[in-house]
Amino acid sequence: MGYKDVYAGWQSDPEGFWMEAARAIDWDRVPSRALSEPGEGRYEWFADGMVNTCWNAVDRHVEAGRGEQVAIIWDSPVTHTKREITYVELRNRVATLAGALRAKGVEKGDRVIIYMPMIPEALEAMLACARLGAIHSVVFGGFAAHELAVRIDDAQPKCIIAASCGLEPGRVVHYKPLLDGAIDRARHKPEFCVIYQREQEVAALVEGRDVNWHGFQYGVTPADCVPVEGNHPAYILYTSGTTGAPKGVVRHTGGHLVALHWSMKNIYDVDPGDRFWAASDVGWVVGHSYICYAPLIYGATTLVFEGKPVGTPDAGTFWRVISEHRVKSFFTAPTAFRAVKREDPAGEFVAKYDLSCLKAVYLAGERADPDTIVWAQTMLGKPVIDHWWQTETGWGIAANPMGIEPLPVKLGSPSVPMPGYDVRILDEGGHEVAPGTLGAIAIRLPLPPGTLPTLWNAEERFRKSYLTHFPGFYETGDAGMKDEDGYLYIMARTDDVINVAGHRLSTGGMEEVLASHPDVAECAVIGVSDPLKGQLPLGFVCLNRGCDRPHAEIVRECVALVRDRIGPVAAFKLCAVVDRLPKTRSGKILRATMAKVADGEPFKLPATIDDPAILDEIRAALEPLGYGRLPA
Ligand code: COA
Ligand code: AMP
Repeated sequence: MGYKDVYAGWQSDPEGFWMEAARAIDWDRVPSRALSEPGEGRYEWFADGMVNTCWNAVDRHVEAGRGEQVAIIWDSPVTHTKREITYVELRNRVATLAGALRAKGVEKGDRVIIYMPMIPEALEAMLACARLGAIHSVVFGGFAAHELAVRIDDAQPKCIIAASCGLEPGRVVHYKPLLDGAIDRARHKPEFCVIYQREQEVAALVEGRDVNWHGFQYGVTPADCVPVEGNHPAYILYTSGTTGAPKGVVRHTGGHLVALHWSMKNIYDVDPGDRFWAASDVGWVVGHSYICYAPLIYGATTLVFEGKPVGTPDAGTFWRVISEHRVKSFFTAPTAFRAVKREDPAGEFVAKYDLSCLKAVYLAGERADPDTIVWAQTMLGKPVIDHWWQTETGWGIAANPMGIEPLPVKLGSPSVPMPGYDVRILDEGGHEVAPGTLGAIAIRLPLPPGTLPTLWNAEERFRKSYLTHFPGFYETGDAGMKDEDGYLYIMARTDDVINVAGHRLSTGGMEEVLASHPDVAECAVIGVSDPLKGQLPLGFVCLNRGCDRPHAEIVRECVALVRDRIGPVAAFKLCAVVDRLPKTRSGKILRATMAKVADGEPFKLPATIDDPAILDEIRAALEPLGYGRLPA
């Protein structure tokens, strides 16, 4: 069957399609139906099934006689370490860790925050939670103490599992002081913290609260898998929205298992035993779905890579890892390829390695620019496949289904909607637009299994953010179009979210931080184009009347404030002091117009602009930062 038949098969019988896909999962109680509607317009998948994620990702492969297969390969060029963990070792390690957590009181439904770098123990912590039915929330290591504190207060974890440190090229990231700082700030206090001490830094433990990862597991009874309902939350993953308060995307257990399992063969053309590498971080959704869960649920081998595309030690790292570990499917963000291309434009490093094992490369996380795709195609001689999804969906909305039928690649398009997603391009009034016309991208409800049913502690925000603008649809927050062949093109965000090096960030959140500076009266943050990272945040600050401190000093403080409050991942380094911000007559700041001015793009002067002369002031302030050149 080709893509069109599979998609049509889903359209004609969605219930049958997903019940069939669910047969690939080991259920403790087989669900009687796929979709249910518990009321108030909510949708849930496999709600009356009973199942355990850890069983499906680990134990069942051991039971099936594949215990000696490698489950996790850890390759850490920053520590010069490599390690392999078989499925049977993983089962034993995770069962013991889960037993230790249970002995300290962690039970089904309890939240556990995980704050760890790219080490196998991060996956083991996630799986141990899944084993007990505890709900994990992994926080990316590039976030600072304040962001961690916000998540602690929202998720209210019984326990936090952290590593003593992370390693960025050239510097040690001191996780433990960040963790201590976050707990100090948070109103909610965890009952205990488990600290994994790394060789590179041994952290001081807080007596009565912190336990040592190894010590607290000594002599405990390993825990069995606890069956949970299909609609039991597997995890919460916070992502950026319009404001500084992150959205806690909830993932239910049953749909997550079914959708991820389906995606491995159909999208990525992976078979059990194959080696699959997603070069992302466990703190992002790509890391949840395609470093941890999907490859293991499918019985493949996953790679955990602690390093960067360049500088650890060179621009050949990706190719070395692929060749050495015989990776079949490789998944990364376009920004990573841009970094490699900048250092090795002619692909000299590519030529040094035998890449015959590699069948295809998958890109996601941001728009894949045609130049980058063509460079990768030329250097590697393999299919380079863009696909589009979000933290909210957990797996591909649009992709080229390589395991069903490789479709012709169209540069600039992540190809076609996957079964389960009825994607429409709508105008402001919610009417579908003609092919080739730009509009808001929406998905007809219900969303498929594996996607978010709600936001943690924020049902109202969930409705307002996603379901209200276009009744009957999920609003993706992306704008784009469809062509005559049904291929999608994702062009821009419709909200204030920006994408920096494949990382999703909130300009609203950065504005909240800048506004807290004592000399700042008003501010705006926009995303400007960057040849490496795709976008960078750029801030404008207006100072309080009478403030006569040197502007350079205030700019330095603003940059430091964002790094301190949000974290280095915000990559906030561009900031300018201006007298006024361009606004509409009703007082709305014209951020989109400022972004166009910064990028030197042509734009239509908004009819409602209060004083067009301000745009010249903005342009003048941008020039020293290397932005704001007039369109040619
Ligand atoms: N812990 C602590 N700090 C982190 C971090 C982590 N896990 N990840 C990034 N940072 C820091 C970086 O060290 C950097 O700090 P600096 O300002 O002191 O240099 C800052 O956050 C910005 O990081 P980043 O935007 O990633 O820039 P970079 O210059 O370090 O690397 C790339 C640029 C393109 C090589 C890198 O962003 C990359 O590999 N991107 C791939 C993106 C990706 O995997 N996205 C996930 C979605 S698929
Ligand atoms: P995140 O939730 O961090 O995965 O970010 C999701 C957002 O990243 C999407 O809503 C898009 O704006 C952007 N994005 C992800 N993948 C793609 C892609 N293949 N093409 C264009 N934009 C993408």
